[in-house]
Amino acid sequence: MSAMELDEQPEDATMAVAGAASSKKAKLEAKALARPWVEKYRPSSLDELVAHKDIISVLRRLIEADKLPHTLLYGPPGTGKTSTILAAAKDMYGAGYKSMTLELNASDDRGIDVVRDQIKEFAGTRRLFSKGIKLIILDEADMMTKDAQFALRRVIEKYTANARFCLICNYANKIIPALQSRCTKFRFAPLAPEQIAGRVADIVQRENVAIGTKATDALLELGKGDMRRVLNVLQAAAVAYPGEVTYESLFLVTGNPLPDHVDAIFASLLNDTFDAARTLLGDLCKTQGYALPDLLTRINAKVVAAKLPNAAKAHVLTKLADIEYRCAFATTTELQLSSLVSAFVVARGLAPAPASA
Ligand SMILES: Nc1ncnc2c1ncn2[C@@H]1O[C@H](COP(=O)(O)OP(=O)(O)OP(=O)(O)O)[C@@H](O)[C@H]1O
Ligand SMILES: [Mg+2]
Repeated sequence: MSAMELDEQPEDATMAVAGAASSKKAKLEAKALARPWVEKYRPSSLDELVAHKDIISVLRRLIEADKLPHTLLYGPPGTGKTSTILAAAKDMYGAGYKSMTLELNASDDRGIDVVRDQIKEFAGTRRLFSKGIKLIILDEADMMTKDAQFALRRVIEKYTANARFCLICNYANKIIPALQSRCTKFRFAPLAPEQIAGRVADIVQRENVAIGTKATDALLELGKGDMRRVLNVLQAAAVAYPGEVTYESLFLVTGNPLPDHVDAIFASLLNDTFDAARTLLGDLCKTQGYALPDLLTRINAKVVAAKLPNAAKAHVLTKLADIEYRCAFATTTELQLSSLVSAFVVARGLAPAPASA
């Protein structure tokens, strides 16, 4: 073996080690990239939550005074209910919060047996080295059976000395009144656009994503006060269309019709002949892959806002509702597209004055 070969061997070995390390690093980086932003940026303390400042300050005062009551957090999806209670648990218990918290959600079995056994066992046992009140989080509690909810009434009362319950749901009216009256209720309203905008600005900076004002506005509109939806749409657009998140890319990843296309369709429905409007509608649905129910939602908003004679407006809106109903039963889309155009053509006949958008 020559000296050169001898020399080469360790170098190869070093390169192999370096290669393995860099591929491991690349894998880790790829994993970090693939991690959903909703989880990556889930607030880990109460300070990080945007919005609901009043609820958070009340919760914080109750925690500091060691007087956390049983709570019921309710409101639409993606408004921070689960994040708030998890952040509160971390603030209350610090690093060891997991041993003091029992979290059950809809993916766990929460029938009457679980309420009887698992919750009772957790609430009834004392830990050797940790004092204090435990926290039992029942996420998506509106999905719990009525029997389990009835069983919970007594369990809550019995273990109040050891544990606090936090029920979380979208619809408070699906929780039996007896449970509601045992809890302090906090309603989580949809987040305001400016609250979401602040968080989005922070995340795009950390993720190095470029996004303009028009695209940000469209993102907030598509999000409808749901932070989870905003972050998911943003991440999907950033991954699918690298470079810059544009207004178009946001609509494309969500499958929502582009506002320009909706405007063109609406103008055509109001003014063009049946044939021209039908062709435009059919072409756009075919080339863009729009689903008719998505278009109906947007057209409905346009009709409601437009200055149209009452009879024409009422006729079109009734027909839109009929078409949507029929779409739900999987009738032929082609037929429903024609029906949509017909509704407008008939409405124009009902209108004494020319319609304007
Ligand atoms: N107020 C908020 N401040 C900061 N981030 C938020 C807030 N609300 C929601 N988010 C973001 O949205 C994600 C989803 O929030 P969370 O799981 O708390 O919603 P939820 O109200 O429990 O919704 P659901 O009713 O669907 O369970 C979080 O991971 C977080 O990234
Ligand atoms: Mg939740």
